[in-house]
Amino acid sequence: MKTQVAIIGAGPAGLLLAQLLRQSAIDCVILEARSEEYVLSRIRAGVLEHPTVELLHSIGAGDRLAREGLPHEGVDIVFRGEKRRIDFPSLTDGKTVTVYGQQEVVKDLIALKKDFDGQILFEAENVQLHDIESDSPSVRFTRHGEDVVLTCDFIAGCDGFHGVSRQTIPQDRLKLFEKVYPFAWLGLLAEAAPAQDELIYSYHQNGFALFSMRSPEVTRLYLQCHPEENLDEWPDERVWSELHIRLESGDGFRLNEGKILRKDVTPMRSFVCETMRHGRLFLAGDSAHIVPPTGAKGLNLAAGDVKVLNDALVAFFKSGSTDLLDAYEATALKRVWAAERFSWFMTRLLHKFPDGEPFDEAIQIADLDYFTSSEAGRKTIAENYVGLPFG
Ligand code: PHB
Repeated sequence: MKTQVAIIGAGPAGLLLAQLLRQSAIDCVILEARSEEYVLSRIRAGVLEHPTVELLHSIGAGDRLAREGLPHEGVDIVFRGEKRRIDFPSLTDGKTVTVYGQQEVVKDLIALKKDFDGQILFEAENVQLHDIESDSPSVRFTRHGEDVVLTCDFIAGCDGFHGVSRQTIPQDRLKLFEKVYPFAWLGLLAEAAPAQDELIYSYHQNGFALFSMRSPEVTRLYLQCHPEENLDEWPDERVWSELHIRLESGDGFRLNEGKILRKDVTPMRSFVCETMRHGRLFLAGDSAHIVPPTGAKGLNLAAGDVKVLNDALVAFFKSGSTDLLDAYEATALKRVWAAERFSWFMTRLLHKFPDGEPFDEAIQIADLDYFTSSEAGRKTIAENYVGLPFG
């Protein structure tokens, strides 16, 4: 098999890249280790930034998003039982975000790729990248018992944090940064109508809580918990009781309860692999960086990477110029670090630190007060939340 760009991973990064490349008639094949059912069932983040929504529309993946996505013009921040709203349009020249589940984006993009050339190979096992330092790299894998060699001009490593792509780069060439937080999120999906239209981020002495949603019938909720939390210790009654306590804000808001469809634990870490390119391998999305979910940036960061990577690949295939490919890492990292900074800031602002000193907690309250009351503070949150421009 032969293609121009071998894409490893059928998550948002890989699928978006495929669709962008298609617009410039560049051929690509996507290899995905998991099954299609598995990929579609992964429940992940749900907030799309303004630039991500624009990108999805520009590649023809915006129809269902426009119909079913929920436009949000602000978020509430609760602390000391008081609710304060950050209004996006008035602070960002009219921008908003859209709540639309990541797996819905993935579903729409898989449909586009399948209809176009069908070149998504699910259940591609034992994927190995070869000759990435040469001009003709290849990918070897096994599929349905058959060994396959895919030769290509470039490899896009879009296979997530645990994927093989980053691991293929020689250890001594990797420049890594990592921060692990002393807490995690217990995530809940509930069959309950969202009790208000906008998200609520709450800082509470019992720990952080987040009220979000997926549709007019489904509420998505999170509670700060221990990184090694035992789900057995969170029966439904405890979950609801804790959510009510942490999200209460004296304005009469009361969560609607409903059947809990799913419980999961999300670890919280910040991670950056600054080596986003090695030879003809380019990393994009979670294979190169992880953000804690507090800033709602994960998928949006992947979208920024693939936009920059696409532009560089298009320039190369149209004119042979390697300038943009050579600039990929520096260009992508600028936005990556901006999102890392914001995600770290929101995480620090809103969580209860297990061994927090009284001084640090007092500063945290002062920060919460400043960033939700002063126009400069609210603008900082709004500008980052709706998304900094790509590239
Ligand atoms: C979600 O709806 O899953 C969600 C929303 C906002 C976040 C993180 C997750 O910051």
